[in-house]
Amino acid sequence: MGNSSIYVGIDIGTTSIKVIIAEYLKDQINIIGYGNTRSAGLNRGVIVDIDQVVKAIKEAVKQAEEKANIQISEVSVGVPANMLQIERCKGMIAIGNEDGNSKEINDFDVKRVTEAALVQNLPPERDVIDIVPDEFIVDGFDGIQDPRGMVGVRLEMQGVMYTGPKTILHNTRKCIERAGLKVRDMIVAPLALSQVALSDGEKDFGAILIDLGGGQTTAAVVHDYQLKYTYVDQEGGDYVTRDISIVLNTSIENAEILKRNYGYADVTLASSEDTFPVNVVGQQDPEMITEEYLAQIIEARLQQIFGKLKADLERINALQLPGGIILTGGLAALPGVKELAQNIFGVNVNIYIPQEMNLRIPSFAQVIGLVEYVTQENEIDLIVRRTLEGKELLVEQTHDFDDNDEEYITQDDEFETDDEFVEVEENPKKKKNKKNNDGKPRGMERFKAMINSLFD
Ligand SMILES: Nc1ncnc2c1ncn2[C@@H]1O[C@H](COP(=O)(O)OP(=O)(O)OP(=O)(O)O)[C@@H](O)[C@H]1O
Ligand SMILES: [Mg+2]
Repeated sequence: MGNSSIYVGIDIGTTSIKVIIAEYLKDQINIIGYGNTRSAGLNRGVIVDIDQVVKAIKEAVKQAEEKANIQISEVSVGVPANMLQIERCKGMIAIGNEDGNSKEINDFDVKRVTEAALVQNLPPERDVIDIVPDEFIVDGFDGIQDPRGMVGVRLEMQGVMYTGPKTILHNTRKCIERAGLKVRDMIVAPLALSQVALSDGEKDFGAILIDLGGGQTTAAVVHDYQLKYTYVDQEGGDYVTRDISIVLNTSIENAEILKRNYGYADVTLASSEDTFPVNVVGQQDPEMITEEYLAQIIEARLQQIFGKLKADLERINALQLPGGIILTGGLAALPGVKELAQNIFGVNVNIYIPQEMNLRIPSFAQVIGLVEYVTQENEIDLIVRRTLEGKELLVEQTHDFDDNDEEYITQDDEFETDDEFVEVEENPKKKKNKKNNDGKPRGMERFKAMINSLFD
């Protein structure tokens, strides 16, 4: 590719594989190609057959390459939130020269402090997907977003670490590589999705983002510009289709068409008079079915999915967040889904549909989010990401770094109390946008306390 302004996102979904090729020019993303092919080899959001997934990826990539008229080599891929863990992390290193004098902090110090934050006892089946730094602390001065160029003897980094099952990470990487591509970066899917689907205010004051996919439904709680919590219910739109197929005794293909053409998520919005023909297995003539009956089948499954999500989100008081709920993902295109969700959750619900030309369907939100996410990364984020992937820094080395120079100080030997470690500070990254806390509803404090305890 050789052109750093080209970004490619791949969303390996249970129902379909989405690819977009985007050109990043003057702070603007122009989508120059996209592909969308039926998926195979996934079950409830998780890869179960590498060969089939590779085939589907190749097809989707080919489609996108033909539209964009370029060949791609590197992609940013989403990692589903299944068994995702979100925890605080902290690293600390000494900066000074051998004679104890302070020294200017450079890229390699940021790399080293990231490595120090990575030194944790992870269970053997888990790997770090991402670290998002909140702040750096230089000789006790906190709230620093970019410590490079500053002078100090001690550098600390505090952030949020996302870990996932090794098997999901391995399989995702394997599929991309077997499809003849390189993984540029692996992004926690809801992190990327929130980049596009939530407004600044929603990310700041808090909102729940629900991805209504084909194989699973993922709820993500974002507050203070951080992804705080995720919940996955392994049922999605394909279950709705299967229900229709079973109840109406028609093929899966027919059921999918009926869902899209006549489906309502909310029975009260469907007509009890308008009917449509259904080809029933083993019957010569089609049967006439009312929209209301179809809506009853659809609503039953959605009631179940939303019910599970509600119980979990209530447990952490997330429904008190002022941003309410934002629905996206393929099934969010179903008429009445907003009304049904509003009824069940009892909070304000909105739907996010991408506005990019040709991609104005909610199932494309995730893949667009991937590209948005990587184009928004700043230099510090890039250093952290390259460190995570064990790659050399691309930036110029400003002082000689010797591995034996100083020993890493990990949280285990340095931080005295867990209490200090667990405290979740407001994210200083966006402090300039923050409004006075006084204006926030009281329930927010309870929610904050609850959310903070999730990092225990
Ligand atoms: N216009 C529409 N009306 C109703 N349902 C739709 C519509 N468009 C897509 N869907 C449904 O959305 C689901 C696919 O959504 P999406 O593409 O977001 O899933 P995915 O990313 O492939 O799966 P997952 O995220 O669960 O792994 C399917 O069940 C499909 O039937
Ligand atoms: Mg999806």
